[in-house]
Amino acid sequence: MYVCLCKNITCGQIRSAIENGDAGNMRDLSQKLGVATQCGKCGRCARGILQDTLTQRSQNDIQIEQVSAA
Ligand code: FES
Repeated sequence: MYVCLCKNITCGQIRSAIENGDAGNMRDLSQKLGVATQCGKCGRCARGILQDTLTQRSQNDIQIEQVSAA
């Protein structure tokens, strides 16, 4: 699904940038992908994807730590 129509950026591209470590905040997303740098209407949606992806990644890290410690 397209999140940023001005820059043709999809939800998957945003998630990939976060999961690859290329972006960890909105400033990174703006600099790397151009999200929210034109009309700004995608900012709220992009921020939600950012927060969800970071939360999911930290939960996965905790699960990996628990498996490694077991
Ligand atoms: S929709 Fe993303 S800057 Fe316009």
